[in-house]
Amino acid sequence: MKHSNLRPRPWRIVCVAPLLLLLGALVLWAQADMTGYWAFRVKDGGVNFFQFQQTGNAVASVASAGRGGGAGRGGTLAGTLKDGKLHLVSAFNMSAQVPAPAAGAASGAAASGGRGGAVGQPRETVYDGVVENANRIAVTMTTTGRDPLKGTLERVTREEAYPTRIPPPDLRDVPDNGLARTPPMGWNSWNKFQDVFDDATVRGMADAMVSSGMVKAGYTYIVVDEGWTSGRDANGKIVGNGKFPNMKALADYVHSKGLKIGIYSSPGPQSCSGKMGGGYQGSFGHEEEDAMTFAEWGYDYLKYDWCSAGNVYSNTTEDNRGAYQKMGEALLKTGRSIVYSLCQYGSHDVWKWGAQSGGNLWRTTGDIADRWDSMERIGFANIDIAPYNRPGHWNDPDMLEVGNGGMTADEYRTHMSLWCLLAAPLMAGNDLRTMTEETKSILMNPDVIAIDQDRDFKPVQRLSVAGKSEVLLRPLSGNAFAVGLFNRGDAPAEIGFRWDALKFDTGLYGFRRLQAQDLWKHEAVPTTGDTFTATVPRHGVVMLRVSIASGRGGF
Ligand code: GLA
Repeated sequence: MKHSNLRPRPWRIVCVAPLLLLLGALVLWAQADMTGYWAFRVKDGGVNFFQFQQTGNAVASVASAGRGGGAGRGGTLAGTLKDGKLHLVSAFNMSAQVPAPAAGAASGAAASGGRGGAVGQPRETVYDGVVENANRIAVTMTTTGRDPLKGTLERVTREEAYPTRIPPPDLRDVPDNGLARTPPMGWNSWNKFQDVFDDATVRGMADAMVSSGMVKAGYTYIVVDEGWTSGRDANGKIVGNGKFPNMKALADYVHSKGLKIGIYSSPGPQSCSGKMGGGYQGSFGHEEEDAMTFAEWGYDYLKYDWCSAGNVYSNTTEDNRGAYQKMGEALLKTGRSIVYSLCQYGSHDVWKWGAQSGGNLWRTTGDIADRWDSMERIGFANIDIAPYNRPGHWNDPDMLEVGNGGMTADEYRTHMSLWCLLAAPLMAGNDLRTMTEETKSILMNPDVIAIDQDRDFKPVQRLSVAGKSEVLLRPLSGNAFAVGLFNRGDAPAEIGFRWDALKFDTGLYGFRRLQAQDLWKHEAVPTTGDTFTATVPRHGVVMLRVSIASGRGGF
């Protein structure tokens, strides 16, 4: 029959289809040209943008690539694309990547492989890929000393890789949201977990905050730092990744424990860095929408981290203020009480304008590390700017490292004492599920916390500095003083002060008898004589609360 000729013959399909596929693949391999913009993504791991240039089989990244991460962080990525196989190598020199102390440490440590990378050792990353089509390459990324990661390189538009810089909004003063009348207290995921944590970790931390007694000590906020997003859905709404499938359910859980919950984003298009160097979704261009989403999900706190904002704003005070103001206004507009935590590492004297941008707290330095030198440098550097603190608006010398294992108990007591004298936010940064009794005794010392949370805020002052010994003083409500005797030196030291250096309000009666309590030993100390002197261990502290003795014999 005539029309039978038109019927497809099965044997033909069987032979022709693979031939076509093979031809197609050959054509693809021949044509694949990586010149252009690419996003490298790993599941739940953030994204790195690259601009590649291909000449023949040779492929190399163009310096200062995309909106964060990738070769733009100081390395070059170079190799070949041949027969559908990609092979790129990127070498990072750790010593060149680690940021200078307390400098804008936005992403340095993380970009260079995060904590634990051996300074001075070159770290090599190899990308081995198989071309799937002209716009997608399946890649395995192997970094020296780490498990290989599977991901994809996907072609993106220039705009996606390099968002257009925009001018900041006109500067206005954001009205005070009335929150954080004393420095906020809580827990944050970053210091312990970086971005390697999930919904269950956070729930576990909420449980432990209750069962360990931290809630009773005043800790309230559970803050999810970097690592929870996967990008935006088709409607532009920010969404959680596989580790955080339901951010609203997580908030509900934390609230059910009587706690409050915090979330993290950036005024830039991306956060600082995921496990492979690229960042997670930021709020750039979506500020109002994201504020609404966070409010809708029930979040009570936002940490807003500068990260890649330098790619879309200028490095000026105006642009910093403007970028933070945008989110400050957006948060207010939601009508929900959301504590606003600014994080731009203390650049442009943020303590002078953070409150005008709506901030309740603002980081004053680069990232803290779980080491004496880092904590000591950051803590003591904050004394001079303590007068900028006021109820609702606090300097933030970064989260606590107590319990993370990198310092001695004396050093952690110094950390806690200093932060409390500074009236710093107290955000624990350790694993609350596995605290030793010693860690608990430091994080939950009620007398030291009471200094941090004193209702009648007055800034800490330096009473004396002699070599590595410093005496700090903070007037407290109720006609009392906190005195911290700090030994920054490497050997035990005798440190003292004169009782009459404490300018008590003695009222009509003139001199009154003093009483003093050692807040770490939990015992009274004698107030006889003109001075108080103690032997303070290396890197250690003696903390006193001194007040007028009351009752009979009080004066
Ligand atoms: C910056 C911040 C840190 C943390 C990381 C996340 O370095 O200062 O506190 O949020 O980003 O990448």
